[in-house]
This record gives sequence, structure tokens and C-alpha cells, in this order.
Amino acid sequence: MIITMNDKDYINANREAWNEVAPVHQKARGKEFLEEVKSPDYSALDAFVTGKLREIGFEGKSVAQLCCNNGRECISLRNLGSGPITGFDISDEAIAEARKLNEIAGSDCEFVRTDVFEIDKKHYGKYDIVFITVGALSWLPDLERFFKVVYNLLKPDGYLLIYEMHPFLYTIPCKDELEFDPEQPFKIEYSYFKTEPWAEDSGIDYVGGTTYQGKTSYSFTQKISDIINPIVKNDITLVELNEYPHDISSIYPFLEKEQKLPLSFILIGKKN
Ligand SMILES: C[S@@+](CC[C@H](N)C(=O)[O-])C[C@H]1O[C@@H](n2cnc3c(N)ncnc32)[C@H](O)[C@@H]1O
Repeated sequence: MIITMNDKDYINANREAWNEVAPVHQKARGKEFLEEVKSPDYSALDAFVTGKLREIGFEGKSVAQLCCNNGRECISLRNLGSGPITGFDISDEAIAEARKLNEIAGSDCEFVRTDVFEIDKKHYGKYDIVFITVGALSWLPDLERFFKVVYNLLKPDGYLLIYEMHPFLYTIPCKDELEFDPEQPFKIEYSYFKTEPWAEDSGIDYVGGTTYQGKTSYSFTQKISDIINPIVKNDITLVELNEYPHDISSIYPFLEKEQKLPLSFILIGKKN
């Protein structure tokens, strides 16, 4: 029997998988993380993205972070001097943790549990910046619809800032995959042009690096063009695209040494 799934099915399955991994991530981060978050100087954001945020003048500006997970980056942005922040995420557990961390940090970020494709219209036109970071885009089955949401959330002249894993990484196995060859860690195993989703049931523990028999999650290989074209089609001008040889995924640090491959990128767009 062939089971066909639609976008909503993928998204619902992913919600369960992200709920399942939340306590695994909390355990891996441990109590030290709760202490770190208390500091008014706490920031999970590196110098690359912080520099770009400063270039677009994020200080005092309202920000929406989409797929914010436990809100550590929202709290960071607020500590660094942004204006009001709303973090959106589909995972009940991640949002519950975000609210708890927000309290521990003494911060005032707002967190909304929602599928990004169903963000309430009351949020439209409210944000100077839409912020998207590592590991968000590949969970979203329809980027054309997604960037329409981004466009709607932004104020006129508002900025989109994406700091993501480079899609080229989807061609290379991670260390816990059978296809991984320690003799040739750079080996291209998968097609950059893969169109069917990745279905995985060994967990999403990119924090502790453990695997477990878990709920099946579905993610998508998106080429650079799959990301840029729907941005531009949705009337967001591409301001700049920078590609970097450093890893932000915590899955592929072994590819950094040679500084030969594109491992991450920052894209800045502006609403017309
Ligand atoms: C890798 S995590 C983001 C991590 C974050 N950048 C950080 O460094 O803390 C991806 C997040 O996307 C969320 N997500 C996946 N599909 C979503 C959807 N359709 N709507 C909203 N959030 C979604 C997941 O719940 C998860 O929290």
C-alpha cells in the first residue's frame, strides 16, 4: 500500500518529533545552560550574524523569529538591544521551554505556538525584521507560501535576515549515517537535486548528538535557488548573500578544517 502525505501531514508529524526531542535537548544542555541564560550578557548568536544585525540597524527594532525553538536566540537578541520580539514555533514543548527561559532570563519576549504557515493575521505588518536561523528552512515543505508569510509579517522597508546551513550540506552524510565514510568525509552521497523528503526516525538530537528510535520527521533538500526564487517572487529584494566555510549546524564540524566547502550562509532581503 502506498501512503501519500501532504504538507499538513509532514508538518503535524514534525510537530510530534520536535515535541519528543525537547526534553532530550534540555537534558543535553543541562543546568549550566539555565545559569548562562540568567546573565544579561547571554547571547547564543555568533559574531557573523551579530555583525550583520548591526549593519541593518537592529537596535530598538521589532523582530519576529520564525521557528525559534526554545527562544534562546530571541532572548539573545533582546539582550543585544533589539526592540520587542515575538518567537513563533510549532512545538508545544519548545515554546513551553522558551517561556520558562524567558522568565529565568528576566526577559520580555513573546512566544507563540503555531505552524508558521498559520500565523495569525494580527501579527501582519508589525515587524522591522524577520529573523530565521539554523535548521529552520529545511522543515518547511513550501517556501513560496512561507516567504509570503514573511512578506506579510514585515513592515514596509523591513528586513529579512536568514542565517542558515548551506544546502550543499544535504549532499554529504553526517557521522551517524551508514553512508558516512571516515576515509572520505567529503564524499558526495546524495543529490543536491533531491526532491522527495527525507524521512528519519532516529531522533533530532543535534545538541547531545545521541540517536534514539523516535517519531518520524520529514525534512526537505532546498537548493540555494529554491530559497532565493520564492523570496524574490514575494516582492522581497535580495540585498546580499554571503556564503561561509564555517559550520553552524553542530552536525558537520568535521568539514570545517579544510575550509573548502560552503557550510553556512547569511541572506539579507528587504521588503519592497
Ligand atoms: C533546528 S530548530 C531551530 C533552532 C534555532 N535556530 C536555535 O538555534 O535555537 C527548528 C525549529 O523549527 C520548528 N518548526 C518546524 N516546522 C515548523 C513549522 N511548520 N512551523 C513553526 N515551527 C516549525 C521546530 O519545532 C524547531 O523548533
